[in-house]
Amino acid sequence: MLKKIAFLFLFLSVVGCNSRSLTDRGLVTEKAMVVTAHPLASEVGAEILRRGGNAMDAAVAVQFALAVVYPDAGNIGGGGFLVLRQQDGSIDALDYRERAPAAAHRDMYLDKNGKVLENLSFKGHLAAGVPGTVDGMVQAHAKYGSLPWQELVQPAIELAANGFALTQKEAKKLNQQRKDFIKYNPVKPTFILRDKWHEGDTLYLKHLAQTLTRIRDKGRAGFYEGTTADMLVAEMKRGGGIISYEDLKAYQSVWRAPLTATLRDYKVITMPPPSSGGVALVQLLTLAEDYPLKIWGWNSLQAAHFMIEAERRVYADRAKHLGDPAYYKVPLQALLDSAYIKSRMKDFSESEATDSDAVSAGIPAPAESPNTTHYSIVDPQGNAVSVTTTLNSSFGAKVFVAGAGFLLNNEMNDFSIKPGYPNTYGLVGGEANAIAPGKRMLSSMTPTILEKEGELYMVVGSMGGSTIITTVYQIILNVTAHGHSMQGAINAGRFHHQWKPDWVLTEWGAVGGVTGLRLWLKGHKLVPKTGGIGRAAGILVLPDGKLEGGADPRGDDAAAGF
Ligand code: DON
Repeated sequence: MLKKIAFLFLFLSVVGCNSRSLTDRGLVTEKAMVVTAHPLASEVGAEILRRGGNAMDAAVAVQFALAVVYPDAGNIGGGGFLVLRQQDGSIDALDYRERAPAAAHRDMYLDKNGKVLENLSFKGHLAAGVPGTVDGMVQAHAKYGSLPWQELVQPAIELAANGFALTQKEAKKLNQQRKDFIKYNPVKPTFILRDKWHEGDTLYLKHLAQTLTRIRDKGRAGFYEGTTADMLVAEMKRGGGIISYEDLKAYQSVWRAPLTATLRDYKVITMPPPSSGGVALVQLLTLAEDYPLKIWGWNSLQAAHFMIEAERRVYADRAKHLGDPAYYKVPLQALLDSAYIKSRMKDFSESEATDSDAVSAGIPAPAESPNTTHYSIVDPQGNAVSVTTTLNSSFGAKVFVAGAGFLLNNEMNDFSIKPGYPNTYGLVGGEANAIAPGKRMLSSMTPTILEKEGELYMVVGSMGGSTIITTVYQIILNVTAHGHSMQGAINAGRFHHQWKPDWVLTEWGAVGGVTGLRLWLKGHKLVPKTGGIGRAAGILVLPDGKLEGGADPRGDDAAAGF
């Protein structure tokens, strides 16, 4: 009883009214917009557009710039997903997700009794998947770029070589990671040269500048072969990792048909598997079609209750049915069938929360055939690119490739390392997402583009592990159902449910105190999430054709454009 009362107090102190405006506009520009997690990266992207580059050119330049100025998630040692809509309406998606090394196997993080070896998939050399970013950028540029490759990598080289000032948030994060950087790096990285970083300190990343120079001059071979590959493989040997020369050589990113769905006036263009994000987002938005969210109102008891219940069911499907389609027969068409999706709510009760143990994955009808960061870009021609890229958790595996100056991802933790065993985001899975050599681990990243009545309308995405999907979902509804501005939709407090664990993570201001109490009485276990849920970057096309950038106030995020 005492525990319940203490929890209620804690809860009431965290939920409250949202003080950030939901309707004030973010930066509004005439022609072009870049929104990223760091002002310097946004400026790099905007400058490429000013020079006449297109949205894909800017996306490539931003990816490399983020690897320098936002090393907790920006990367060349990780991977990501990119969704493109060209001004003529044609669409494409690039999967540059990491892959399990060839020496990986299903039980590699279990001891001989089948017990999970904590941390092995999360920190240190064995946690790293084969990086996909550099190949992804090379392919993106080859297919859609217009400026010379060298010009797109150069700004990142300059930032790394000439140094850049740390923001207060970045300095704090580097200090927090110091112990892990020491523990997991046999060779001392630049990031621990000082005992303590402060806002405004200049960070020079000389080795990273040299690696980026090799990438600038040799393209793919500057990373997957030669000096960089030698350094990466040597690092693996030093720290007990398993990525080999063959793994690096074999890495290929994949162009995929984007997942699309038409819902009311909107067409959603998003990422297919191996991301779960697109499938889950389409399921959530399809369910929302049948409920009067606009009438209920943002932040209302009914809307929050319905959304939580929809999320519970959608994440149950995610856990069972989704994985790398090259290794597991994902019942994609069946999962996206609107009759199937809607059938999932048949046991929905308006009065009380469903117990997650009573909700299992649905059985879709068989198909006929078988610390992440997001940036959004629109160029003056109207081409749009939506990219989510990651090392997985903040600073990935905490391992630097000595001499090459970049961090490795800890994406192996996104696999289901044992059936039903939760990963760092509490997500569970089974066969569909079991480890296999060369397989891509399931992701929640949801880079998305929306059309309204056939025209470009929104470019959006977020970081946040499992909360990415519900963050993107809420932002889209905030604009389309509740009329928030792009900035307001991103400012708004968020909540998140993922089936298991059976609780609702709740940001400050996501629901008012009274609504929170009434949700609690319906049986929803609200848990305050003080660190925030997700960090999004969005661009909205306004009725007069201007662009509104939405930069997330939870970070140093910034919009830039003209
Ligand atoms: O791909 C995924 O779903 C995760 N690796 C994303 C990680 C993430 O968003 C970290 N940020 N909090």
